[in-house]
Amino acid sequence: MNGYLTESNFTMVEEGFTTRDLLENLLAELCQERDQQASFFVADLGDIVQKHLRFLKALPRVKPFFPVRCNGSEGVIRLLAELGASFACANKAEISRVQSIGVPADRIFYSSPCKQVAHIRYAASQGVQLMTFDNEVELSKVARSHPHARMLLGIAADSSPSAHPSMRFGTTLESCRYLLEAAKEQAVEVVGISFHLGSHGLEPQAFAQALAAAQMAFEMGTEMGYHMHLLDIGGGFPGTEDSRARFEEMAAVINSALDSYFPEDCGVQVVATPGRYYVTSAFTLAASITAREEVATEQPSSDGRASCITSAMASTAPSAASCLTAPAPGLSCTRPGPSTSLRGPAGHSDERVADGLDLPELQVGDWLVFEDMGAYSIPSSSLPGGCPQPHVTYAMSRVAW
Ligand SMILES: Cc1ncc(COP(=O)(O)O)c(C=O)c1O
Repeated sequence: MNGYLTESNFTMVEEGFTTRDLLENLLAELCQERDQQASFFVADLGDIVQKHLRFLKALPRVKPFFPVRCNGSEGVIRLLAELGASFACANKAEISRVQSIGVPADRIFYSSPCKQVAHIRYAASQGVQLMTFDNEVELSKVARSHPHARMLLGIAADSSPSAHPSMRFGTTLESCRYLLEAAKEQAVEVVGISFHLGSHGLEPQAFAQALAAAQMAFEMGTEMGYHMHLLDIGGGFPGTEDSRARFEEMAAVINSALDSYFPEDCGVQVVATPGRYYVTSAFTLAASITAREEVATEQPSSDGRASCITSAMASTAPSAASCLTAPAPGLSCTRPGPSTSLRGPAGHSDERVADGLDLPELQVGDWLVFEDMGAYSIPSSSLPGGCPQPHVTYAMSRVAW
């Protein structure tokens, strides 16, 4: 035990007691209270432990750096630190968040391709050295502000035609030599290559292509006298079992491509930044209905009555590939209702949650339960309209602990 996570950070539950059981207990307690809490998460830390063990088994050569942007909640950071994972941070706030839990600088990767100078200086002052760049502007900022930076050159290994070139992370192979030369001129130390293939519907074979491209970029760096020894293969691993390719399928392609392009004895350390893979299935969100409005539509429904749409506002916008599940016990009406639109708090970027839902007629105070909510769903600050951040109750079984 490393002391990042203790029994005081979570609720110990007996084996067989599910997150859903815990959530229903919490809802039953809340229903007794008059001043209802607006929304909350229940997180099964044991699920994250399982994911970590699965990752180490499937990708034994790859060291995970968890992207804090994906889920910066305290229990997740503490657990992953305890398990020995490292962290990829997008800015100063994320770096100080993991530092506040005691994570040392050598387990922090400042992975954002666009960095503020003040944040680069902060990283320098804290001894956070590992960073990325994919253009000259970023390179110059780092050259001026962080003399001890160890840089990964980001390459665009994403071959999907949908991504607009200007929106892609990483530079082209053609520009690599030029950027490596520019880094030499500015005395910036380049230690390896980084890529991120995107996060949706990745074909495992895309990793093989990207690793082949990364090897070419490595060779360029080595020819130019850099000690190239670190490779970041990014994230994009599936968080649930219903994805196009299973995690183990991707891992098999990665392992075999690593053996071809970066064999074990080549001295290259391999890291990844898996986000949704680790946390999606561990979190369940309960959100209460805070407002409702019936909107009459022009078209009559099949039974001849004027149809209407109920617009219900939930206390939190459950964005990020949310999955609507069976209504919570607090949901009172079982009569089939009209088509329902669901909205998050007004002014929130994810205000529009879903339309055309076939739900029972919702009333203010009813609860909705959303599973698989662990990735990119925890707000880093308070919600608009004075809504507090949803509370997270962490649970883990004694066996997982
Ligand atoms: C550069 C980079 N790496 C890793 C990730 C994590 O992706 P995922 O959550 O799909 O694993 C992201 C997510 O946006 C990213 O932009």
